[in-house]
Amino acid sequence: MPHSVYAFDAYGTLFDVHSAVASHSSRVGPDAEHFSELWRTKQLEYSWIRTLMPGAYRDFWKLTEDALDFAFAKFPSVDRSLRPDLLQAYRTLKAYPEVQAVLAALKSQDSRVAILSNGSPEMLKAAVASAGLDLLVDRIFSVDAVRAYKTHPDAYRLLIDIWGIQPGEISFQSSNRWDIAGAARFGFYTVWVNRSSQPDEYPDSPPDRVVVSLAKLIDPN
Ligand code: LAC
Repeated sequence: MPHSVYAFDAYGTLFDVHSAVASHSSRVGPDAEHFSELWRTKQLEYSWIRTLMPGAYRDFWKLTEDALDFAFAKFPSVDRSLRPDLLQAYRTLKAYPEVQAVLAALKSQDSRVAILSNGSPEMLKAAVASAGLDLLVDRIFSVDAVRAYKTHPDAYRLLIDIWGIQPGEISFQSSNRWDIAGAARFGFYTVWVNRSSQPDEYPDSPPDRVVVSLAKLIDPN
């Protein structure tokens, strides 16, 4: 049974966060992969820590900049003059190859399609536009509206409050296992997109479904 609403996490789920460094990998040098991993890890760590500390919220673009600066400090081999190019690449991340077709198919079955992301409104808008997804996404929900990052329940509540629906009506897709845990606890139907065979975590907050690619959402088998 199709769901009436499909909500997608953005970074790591629709957009490949490592495509920013990958697009400049020869200039970043031999540490490119570890540099990109650290950039992402710190960005997420900052989101959780700042949600736990009252009054410490900063938007996700600022956290992306802060995390990049930390990665530069940890990897002195990486040329700091790459900073503007890497940030620009982060604004225009590559979407995973199946994304356009999957969103188009969901819309053609009359489901509503949303993004529910930690990203700031401006950075989400830029990523959606550069990936050509504008006409395929009905609404972008940025947690910036509640100044709390996932897995805080207020972040998931945003979507149901604005659209006036019940959590169980939403199929929520994320490649981030911690995000699936938060969404499952909130009551969404959850689909974990485990593209790279990661081991399971949070066994007390399991996904309803595990897929290797978003394409499985529209695959009848
Ligand atoms: C997002 C981050 C968590 O898009 O990937 O919300």
